[in-house]
Amino acid sequence: MLPTKMTEALNKQFNNELQAAHAYKAMATYFSDKGYQGFANFYLIQSKEEDSHAMKFYHFLVTMGEKPVLHKLEEPKNHFENALDVVQQSLEQEREVTRDIYSLVSLAAELKQHSTSSFLDWFIKEQMEEEESFRIILVKLKGIQEGGEFFLKMDEEFAQRKLE
Ligand SMILES: [Fe+2]
Ligand SMILES: [Fe+2]
Repeated sequence: MLPTKMTEALNKQFNNELQAAHAYKAMATYFSDKGYQGFANFYLIQSKEEDSHAMKFYHFLVTMGEKPVLHKLEEPKNHFENALDVVQQSLEQEREVTRDIYSLVSLAAELKQHSTSSFLDWFIKEQMEEEESFRIILVKLKGIQEGGEFFLKMDEEFAQRKLE
């Protein structure tokens, strides 16, 4: 069992991760619609990755004898200006998730929930990687202003991404 406050906060993050998966699928549609299959593939995999994060919270709650509760999903943003806009919003979304994870880590420490603290360690590292990966894409996209052909080269590269 966990303190109610801890359970509620972990359950909220379980739902946040599902919302993130939803948002990334909406971003994938921007690229599918334009015919950029590589970028669409990247975002669809990103969505699956968020689902797998949600399931980590699901299983942790169950392991601790708590019941995960599903909330209603919000409508994600469905309109984007361009690829740069999508990636900028992805980075912003990941920064928000990092703030949420930090709040969870602080709460776990405050309530002396060491199992939860240990569970959350993985997410601290994961958020570092998530933010970095979008920052790298952003830098590359900005570099494309130097020459449009790089964009298609990136698209081919992203088409190779597989779910690990
Ligand atoms: Fe996540
Ligand atoms: Fe993420």
